[in-house]
Amino acid sequence: MSFDNLFNSITEWPGTYYYTTCWFEKLKDLLLIYTVLNYLILPLFHLIYGYGLFRTIQFGYNFLIKKGSILLFMIPSIKEKVNKEINDARITLEKDILIKSKNVNHSTIPLKGFSIDQVLNQLNDLDNLDSNHAIAWKDGKVSGAVYHGGDELINLQTEAIHKFAVSNQLHPDAFPGVRQMESEVVSMVLNLFNAPITGCGTTSSGGTESLLLACLAAREKARIEKGIVCPEIVAPKSIHAAVFKASKYFGMNLKLADLNPDTFTVDINHVKRLITNNTAIILGSAPNFPYGTIDNIPELSKLAIKYNIPLHVDCCLGSFVIAYYEKAMGKKLPIDFDFRVPGVTSISCDTHKYGFAPKGSSIIMYRSPELRKYQYYISSDWVGGLYGSPTLAGSRPGALTVGAWATMIYLGENGYIKEIKSILETAQILRHTVENEIPELDLIGDPLLSVISFKSDVINVHVLGDLLSKEYGWHLSSLQKPAALHLAVTRLTSKAIFELIGDLKNCIKECVAAVKADGKAIKSDTAQLYGVAGSLSTSGVVDQLVGCFLDVLYQNEKSNELMNE
Ligand SMILES: *Cc1c(COP(=O)(O)O)cnc(C)c1O
Ligand SMILES: *[C@@H]1O[C@H](CO)[C@@H](O)[C@H](O)[C@H]1NC(C)=O
Ligand SMILES: *[C@@H]1O[C@H](CO)[C@@H](O)[C@H](O)[C@H]1NC(C)=O
Repeated sequence: MSFDNLFNSITEWPGTYYYTTCWFEKLKDLLLIYTVLNYLILPLFHLIYGYGLFRTIQFGYNFLIKKGSILLFMIPSIKEKVNKEINDARITLEKDILIKSKNVNHSTIPLKGFSIDQVLNQLNDLDNLDSNHAIAWKDGKVSGAVYHGGDELINLQTEAIHKFAVSNQLHPDAFPGVRQMESEVVSMVLNLFNAPITGCGTTSSGGTESLLLACLAAREKARIEKGIVCPEIVAPKSIHAAVFKASKYFGMNLKLADLNPDTFTVDINHVKRLITNNTAIILGSAPNFPYGTIDNIPELSKLAIKYNIPLHVDCCLGSFVIAYYEKAMGKKLPIDFDFRVPGVTSISCDTHKYGFAPKGSSIIMYRSPELRKYQYYISSDWVGGLYGSPTLAGSRPGALTVGAWATMIYLGENGYIKEIKSILETAQILRHTVENEIPELDLIGDPLLSVISFKSDVINVHVLGDLLSKEYGWHLSSLQKPAALHLAVTRLTSKAIFELIGDLKNCIKECVAAVKADGKAIKSDTAQLYGVAGSLSTSGVVDQLVGCFLDVLYQNEKSNELMNE
């Protein structure tokens, strides 16, 4: 339809429109139509197409309830009650978290500096803080967290960090050795993920930064190459929270795809329905954090190629475990996940997880420099001089990259394969136990790597998690929607797996007994918290609680005084 026709048809609309020869009015009408279509009708259409009418209405309903409950919390009597609850929770949190050394107390810089011996004494004191409370990561009782923890490796890493303590990657001229090691670390990991000859990447401070960079690069590409101004991310519901963060930081609309209820991997058909002309990036995980299941990357790749959209694979957790799976287990993974899949344009790999590097180390890889350049920040008119920075941080601690480099050449392929084989075998032991020996628990999906997660229809798994923690010192991760627990097996948990299985069975007996003896419920803060979080009308309170938790982390004598005023 030509513009003239469009105008004519508008003027024929009954009532509201009248014919005007003023081009300005016409422009205004056109703009209004464009705006309503583009920002209201089309998104609504995509929402209904993507999620169905029923769920779209449900989204609207949930949104209203959540907003409504926030309004409700503003009513003085309710506000008072909520505040009291939060203050009570804060006191409990403070008891749990604020474990302070009796001999150390600095809220201002000491006037006269301490001697080296005094400082070292204080450090010792802080290192040994309240061993009753401190989590026994050394016994392998924590899910994930410390991925290697061998003394020899820790000593080497400490030595490496010591040597390069002052280095800064922002100044490659001053630290040429660090520049070489950084490029070698990236190259080694690119090789591990079968990058083509054009493959490239950068180091980053962790999985979160790598995912932020992947989303940022995709957004800039979409903006510059396709003129997309309202960029969207399409990702499985099980994608890591860092992608939610990217969505918030970079103003990208996050569209979550459902999981197949039996495999707990992304529903490809749903992804397809969520793709629009605004989609800037599609993501999949290999594996995801909650369930350790691997999304169908080859199918996502087909969609990515068909619609010409970048595809990022989150191998942050999979890292060297998934890369060395074939060599460690002597068989291929049933699903391809790396650059050999043609539509995969970027991959993130946390060297600080199963690469066993010191914390603060991850790699973001791209199929080619054309995509990587979009994550760069370049400013050529700053009065401080020409400025270019490859990642989110400006100054970067070279020592951490050195630590990663030293770890990789120390362990070597054989070292990695040995550790990873043991981790994979341990995870399978837990998997088979949950599947075959504990009828109360349901294994989630088909976890082939290091994370095993399970739920239950018989007992409350959050109560189970609290019991395991209180009685035996285990710290599994709590998941919600559905309520579940998971263990990310590390080199340290490998040694303790049979202990865990025994403790797990004992705690389940206790839970089952409590369920049978109706009313003798076991007190569980976690179960209570997730109960509140799961309810629409009270989830706003949990947001406040989480904020409160973050506040408490930075609490000192001064903020205490403020609170009491
Ligand atoms: C840990 C993890 C991340 C984020 O890593 P951080 O290092 O904690 O920032 C991203 N994706 C997955 C699947 C992870 O397990
Ligand atoms: C810590 O120091 C502050 C003042 O700097 C003081 O008010 C407070 O009582 C001290 N706390 C302890 C536990 O010694
Ligand atoms: C994007 O728009 C074009 C027409 O402008 C259409 O042919 C194409 O199917 C759209 N793509 C998607 C993913 O909706």
